[in-house]
Amino acid sequence: MDIRIGIVGAGNRGCHSFGRIISEREDTCVVAFADPNAKRAQGAAELLGIEANIYTDTESMLAVETLDGVVIASPDHTHEACALAAIASGLHILIDKPLASTTSGCLNIIRAARERGVELFVGFNMRHAPLLRRIKEVIEAGDIGNLMLIETREFYDGGRSYMCRWNRRYEWSGGLWVHKGSHDFDLLNWFNAGGEPVRVSAFAGVNALRPDAVPFDLEPGKPLGPNCTVCAYREKCPDMYEVEPRLFSEETAAADGYYKDLCMYTSDKDTHDNGIAIVEYDNNVRASLLQCFVANFSDRLYTITGDRGTIMAALKTPTQIEVRPRWGEENRIIKVPPAGGGGHGGADPRLVDCFVDSIRSGASYGSNLADGIRAVAIGEAAERSWREHRMVEISELVDLRDAGSV
Ligand SMILES: NC(=O)c1ccc[n+]([C@@H]2O[C@H](COP(=O)([O-])OP(=O)(O)OC[C@H]3O[C@@H](n4cnc5c(N)ncnc54)[C@H](O)[C@@H]3O)[C@@H](O)[C@H]2O)c1
Repeated sequence: MDIRIGIVGAGNRGCHSFGRIISEREDTCVVAFADPNAKRAQGAAELLGIEANIYTDTESMLAVETLDGVVIASPDHTHEACALAAIASGLHILIDKPLASTTSGCLNIIRAARERGVELFVGFNMRHAPLLRRIKEVIEAGDIGNLMLIETREFYDGGRSYMCRWNRRYEWSGGLWVHKGSHDFDLLNWFNAGGEPVRVSAFAGVNALRPDAVPFDLEPGKPLGPNCTVCAYREKCPDMYEVEPRLFSEETAAADGYYKDLCMYTSDKDTHDNGIAIVEYDNNVRASLLQCFVANFSDRLYTITGDRGTIMAALKTPTQIEVRPRWGEENRIIKVPPAGGGGHGGADPRLVDCFVDSIRSGASYGSNLADGIRAVAIGEAAERSWREHRMVEISELVDLRDAGSV
C-alpha cells in the first residue's frame, strides 16, 4: 500500500525535491500540500502531474487528511510552528534543515517530540552524499590519526538564491550561518564524532551584493529591479534570475507578496555574502567554515587534518578524496563513483529512503534531534559573534549535554 505523505511548503524543496521524489516512487504518494499560497500549491501539484488536496495551513491539512508522514519544507522561521502542529498529530516527520531558525525553537520542537514520542528527523541530506560518507569512513578507519583541524569552504555561484528571497533576512532564516551553515556545521560535528562544540567566533559582511556594486552602468531615470522579471536591465544583467513561473510568477506573488527574484544588489538584506566562522570543540579539535556566495562556481572544499595525515577533497570537482599520510606511505587517491540521479549529488532520494524505511519499520533515524540543535546552536553563535564582535560560548544558548540525551 502507498505511504501517504503531506507536504508543508510547496516551493522549491516541497515541489522539486521532496514532491518529485515521493510522487515518483512506486510505494509513496503526495496526497496533500499545505501552503498559505494556494495558487503556488496548485502549481506544484500540476508540475508534478498529481492530484493533491490543497490546504492553506498545516493544522487544516492534518485535521482532514489521513497521513503516514509529513515533510516540512517551509521557510526556516515557520519550522517551529509547523513541526509543533505535526508533532501533535503523532505522525512521522521529516523536517528540512535547519531544525528551526533559533536554538530555542529547536528546544521547543525537541521537548514536544520527546513528550509525544514521535519520530522526527532533520533532513541533513549532505550526510548521504557518497563522497562525504567516504571521508567519514577514512576518518573512522584512523587513516589520519586523531583529528586536529577541519576546514570547509563553500563557494556558491552568484548568491542569487540568497539575496533575492526570504533567506536574505535574519528574522526569516536565522541568518546564513543558520540557514546555510547548518548543513556544514552538522558535517563538522559528524566528522568530529564525540566532540561537543564549545565556542564560536565569526566574521562576515556584504562586499559584492550591494547597490553600489552593480556590474554595469545604470541609465538616468531607469532604476534596477525591484525583481528580475520586471527589471529594465533584465537582458543586460549577468545575474538575472529565472523563476519557475508556475510557482513564483507575478501572479502567485500577488497572493502573498513573495517574490523569489528580488534584485540581489538592491534587496533589503541583513545577512552576509561572505564570512568565516571558527568553532572550538571540547576534544581539542578546531574547525572552520568559509562561506562565499560570490563566485563563478558552486562547490565545497575540505581539508581535514589529524596527527597522522590530511584528507583533501572537493564535493563536486573532482569527486575524489586525496589522503596524505604524514610519514612513510605515498599519497593515496580514492575515487568516489558518481552518485547517480537525484538532488544534491543523489543525497535527497537517499534521505527519502530513510524516511520511508523509518515509517515502515518504526525504526529511529541516524540524524537525530540532537544533531539538529547542535548545528543550529553553532550557526546562532556565529550570527551573534559577527554581529556583536565577540566570541560566543555555546553554553549561552543551550546546554548540549541535555540535548544529547534526546
Ligand atoms: N536540504 C537542503 O539541501 C535544502 C536546500 C534548500 C532549502 N532547504 C530548506 O528547505 C526549506 C524550504 O526552502 P525552499 O528553498 O523550498 O523555499 P521556497 O521559498 O522555494 O518555498 C517555501 C514555500 O513555503 C511556503 N510557506 C511559507 N510560509 C509557510 C507556512 N507557514 N506553512 C507552509 N508553507 C509556507 C511558501 O509559500 C513557499 O511556497 C527551508 O527550510 C530551507 O532552509 C534545504
